[in-house]
Amino acid sequence: MPGIDTPFTNWTRNDQGSRTLKPVRVGICGLGTVGGGTFNVLMRNADDIARRAGRPIVVEQVAHRSLNPECDLTGIKTTTDVYEVARNPDVDVLVELVGGYEVARELVLSAIANGKHVVTANKALIAVHGNEIFKAAHEQGVIVAFEAAVAGGIPVIKSLREGLGANRIEWVAGIINGTGNYILTHMRSEGRAFEDVLAEAQALGYAEADPTFDVEGIDAAHKLTILASIAYGVPLQFEKAYTEGISRVTFDDVEQADNLGYVIKHLGISKRTDAGLELRVHPTLIPKDRLLANVHGVKNAIAIMGDAVGPTLYYGAGAGAEPTASAVVADLLDVARDIATDHHYRVPYLAFSGIGEGDGSQPILPMEDIVTAYYLRLLAVDRPGVLARVATILSEQGISIEALVQKEATEGELVPIILLTHSCREKHMNEAIRQIESMADIAGSVTRIRVESLDEQE
Ligand code: HSE
Repeated sequence: MPGIDTPFTNWTRNDQGSRTLKPVRVGICGLGTVGGGTFNVLMRNADDIARRAGRPIVVEQVAHRSLNPECDLTGIKTTTDVYEVARNPDVDVLVELVGGYEVARELVLSAIANGKHVVTANKALIAVHGNEIFKAAHEQGVIVAFEAAVAGGIPVIKSLREGLGANRIEWVAGIINGTGNYILTHMRSEGRAFEDVLAEAQALGYAEADPTFDVEGIDAAHKLTILASIAYGVPLQFEKAYTEGISRVTFDDVEQADNLGYVIKHLGISKRTDAGLELRVHPTLIPKDRLLANVHGVKNAIAIMGDAVGPTLYYGAGAGAEPTASAVVADLLDVARDIATDHHYRVPYLAFSGIGEGDGSQPILPMEDIVTAYYLRLLAVDRPGVLARVATILSEQGISIEALVQKEATEGELVPIILLTHSCREKHMNEAIRQIESMADIAGSVTRIRVESLDEQE
């Protein structure tokens, strides 16, 4: 579908009459944590930003519901109506920082319809409505940039989309939710329970407004959906991402993993396989010596494997006012450089041209077809033959045991058994677990945590 040439006029004359590039005029919608950070970085670093862009980037208007005490809005046009920014003929780029799904979608589509470029930090918006938004933007010939939507200040979108453009991407694995990583880090280092550390993360302001987005993996699945699309050139398919949170991870599992030489991290993982693409977020055991295993607290990190470059790693702040503003402003710099470029010559939104237009891109695999290794924890009656029966069930499903530990009895006659398996197809593990749980000598359900070697140092 052809894009149209941008109507932006590039040149103006300064007070001395010489020709200079026109400023790019920005309308910021939302003056919360990220909006306030973006406003302040644009103001504080205005001179350097202008030199980098080759033209000033100026704040033309700010829409906010309430004042942000961190921001001095003296001399800035303000409104409480975000749609006023989308209609403002003096705004070239609308920066969407209101968050959420519906208002953000309406606002962005309205800005695009009015010929404005858009910068957003909204991962939910891009993951769920991105295909629709990019189609509308392409038809209007405008830019939609979203570096801040994934891993806050880490420039992973640009790295994957442009820096790794020569590569066939093999896999992407990341700690892409700071709140979840904070919880797992403190459970491990202080021996604390999940609920206890979650309450602390909320008090410190790390968690999303609805913490289930963080702890149940929805926020990470939004971000992984975006990364996978850019990695493999497939449409955004959030609805096909498998999402499992960390709320059922116990300190017991954290400790057992540690004894076996592993750390539990909440990872977003996407792999290319011959059958299709894996797209999954879940707690994962990874060897202690992996770089990702040593990413602590609220920090984010993403490991990406390219066929030419090999393993690469991107680390930094995944949230926060100015780290996220760093990514928003970098997008504004790109817009400022590209604003007068014919739309056909711009970098495609999701790195590849013609996504979703019969391009033969690979399907997302159902979870039962993924292949991985497993950690299992079960409680068994301490009686001859129980372990042998468990081993038989696994072997009948073609699953090979890598390690097995039987602990001393803790609950009456029951003994905890910890197993590590080699890789197998998830559907075979599902069947094995079903059969193990139906054994009379097994109490309760089997705890299953996937294990990945993720050799990002190979
Ligand atoms: N709640 C998110 C996190 C913020 O904890 O990582 C950034 O998306």
